[in-house]
Amino acid sequence: MPSDPPPEAAFDVERVVCRLTQLERHGVCAFTISAGDWPLRGFVLRVGEGIRGYVNRCPHAGHPLNLLPERFLTPDGALILCSSHGALFEKSSGYCVAGPCAGRSLMPVALEIRWGFVLLADSVDVQALAQEADAAPLVEGPEGPPRAP
Ligand code: FES
Repeated sequence: MPSDPPPEAAFDVERVVCRLTQLERHGVCAFTISAGDWPLRGFVLRVGEGIRGYVNRCPHAGHPLNLLPERFLTPDGALILCSSHGALFEKSSGYCVAGPCAGRSLMPVALEIRWGFVLLADSVDVQALAQEADAAPLVEGPEGPPRAP
């Protein structure tokens, strides 16, 4: 009969983003976690030996980055791709290196790993982060901010 897990193994299942095995299989996992009226939509991805998490909201027009489930990366897997207008982001930092929101960044989500699960870190206030993401200013116009004269 298996023994009970140690006390530090306990965690809130409502903060589970995905299983680590799921992340290994797909390289990226999308998630939606609700607390109150504001769902937090995000995704996690493998970056080398580590993982990163971001809110799934493009700083250009506020669209989700993916059109299809788990489809967040360029074909070579090197960068995060926004399917709406082609913005490209670094996987390790969320910094936009090309596209209409170049110079802006995806909003990070702090994560931790416990007992084979990826979870929101204890420091993450789901509702506050979801509201903050929703209120974040977007880039003006379809081609980005106005250019200096
Ligand atoms: S919404 Fe992402 S590039 Fe336009």
